[in-house]
Amino acid sequence: MKQNLFLPSGYRLEFWAAGDGFLRINIDGKTVWQIPSFAIHPEFFKYHHREACEVTIVTNAPDAVLWAYGYQPQTVNETGITVFEFSDRGILQRTGAEIENWLRSDPDRPALHFSPIRHWMNDPVGLCKIGDTWHMFYQFHPSGSGWGPMHWGHATSRDLVNWLHMPVFLHPEQNLWRLGATGGAFSGNAFRDRDGSLMFFYTERLPAYDLFKGYREIQKLARPDRRMIKAEGIVTVLEQRPDGVEHDFRDPKVWWDDAANAYRMVLGASMEGDPAVLLFGSGDGLEWQYLRPLYRAPVNFRQEGARAVECPDFFRLEDKWVLVMGFVGHVEPRTRRHNLLYALIGEFVDDCFVPDTPELQLLDFGTDYYAMQSVESDGRQIAFAWLFNWEYRKPEGSSYSGEMSLPRVLSLSEDRKRLRMLPAMEVDEHLVADLIVEDKSGTFSLPKGPIEIRLSGALEGSKLVATQGGELAFEVSVADGILSIRLAQDDGSIQYVAELGCGKDLRLFHDRGIVEIFADGGSVCGTRRGYANIEPDHLDISSSASAQVLERYSK
Ligand code: FRU
Repeated sequence: MKQNLFLPSGYRLEFWAAGDGFLRINIDGKTVWQIPSFAIHPEFFKYHHREACEVTIVTNAPDAVLWAYGYQPQTVNETGITVFEFSDRGILQRTGAEIENWLRSDPDRPALHFSPIRHWMNDPVGLCKIGDTWHMFYQFHPSGSGWGPMHWGHATSRDLVNWLHMPVFLHPEQNLWRLGATGGAFSGNAFRDRDGSLMFFYTERLPAYDLFKGYREIQKLARPDRRMIKAEGIVTVLEQRPDGVEHDFRDPKVWWDDAANAYRMVLGASMEGDPAVLLFGSGDGLEWQYLRPLYRAPVNFRQEGARAVECPDFFRLEDKWVLVMGFVGHVEPRTRRHNLLYALIGEFVDDCFVPDTPELQLLDFGTDYYAMQSVESDGRQIAFAWLFNWEYRKPEGSSYSGEMSLPRVLSLSEDRKRLRMLPAMEVDEHLVADLIVEDKSGTFSLPKGPIEIRLSGALEGSKLVATQGGELAFEVSVADGILSIRLAQDDGSIQYVAELGCGKDLRLFHDRGIVEIFADGGSVCGTRRGYANIEPDHLDISSSASAQVLERYSK
């Protein structure tokens, strides 16, 4: 395959390739840059073009190029990357709206939710806002649609709903594919220091040959370059695990603590086998000392399979402190749901977190809302999570895996006992809502694409059944005060349920297999990602509450 391209001065081409083949870049018939032979394992390559001119890209193995894009550093913040799709016929380039239209043409890809263009994505990481631009990073495996050596993918947005795809921001410190290992640049958070400088604290899992024992996790600090394109100045800030803490030691969240007049960090871990959140302190953000466990899960969690806390989020909300965490490996005996996300609300005094009640709030009864990360901005606590639970996967052969939730805003319930989540106002401001059903029960045909269902009034006895060609897509019901959801793929062995009490409002978004439910003012939320019958054509509503159905799409 040969392809002529005009490249401006300073242009960067970045790609991952593996297999039998070569790639050359020629100018006027002379090779100016080449990879004489790819390796059998994926490797990352970058070409920096110096003078504006036409080049010819030549390769005998277009299929060996697993993921490729180009960009000009001066303009990428406005344009996003240009995706390079290699094939026998040449290189197809797509930028901006062309990428959006291409992604939207995939009938299996959610239209309102962020997903990577290609390959595997998990947790949202490094969320932050700079000027009027939101930055969302994500756990990304650039060479395959399964989990693998972790990088930080990157996207930006002005409205939390429409995203521009950016170059990969952070790479693992070693070529893990070459080592036959997993690990890499794991999850972490953005932190803005008092002088306004932005940095990212994250975990690096060093080459790991066994997923469940013996790996080593260390904490690092990275700073963005001045254009927010690549992480630079990476330093290790914490390697030493406290006694009793095993190999799980990750996902830092850092803040400046006025009361302590020092930096504080929480990490997810396990302590003598119990899932735990650890608190560390630092005077300069570089040297960290272990202070104490911030939270240790009751013993039943370990007995029920929980291995560690992942992605702890700890933040001030109104006059309280909130801890959100996932217990990886845990199976709830009653419902068989696993890897649930929990919240605790309390006080944080003298470096001690004192929950108002020891009872954990189940943050999402649907389970496909994991690794939530929130960030405070202009007085709002904005959160995203990864819509996945390891229970179900995308069908084999899918070009990508992983979606993010809609942006949510966190608040406390009036009695300050529950953490509430509701869609951010940007969802209503930037996604069109055309009313298609107003105030009635009955059976309705649905348009193709995303919808929102709203119920207001007493929810008890309500039932929403969406079908595709008569087959179940999803069913949501409220019976005896219990809200439950069932998808086509469920065989009944896991119960997706929540106590609703006397909830009088419900919003449900459906977007090609994703169901996000917000009930009782956001006090009860449930999220599912289904992979079967994801485009319902009929909806049956039976409810004494008043019902509305809205067609939702991006402007
Ligand atoms: C949660 C998690 C984190 C880890 C990352 C690795 O999904 O396991 O604990 O940092 O994903 O991709």
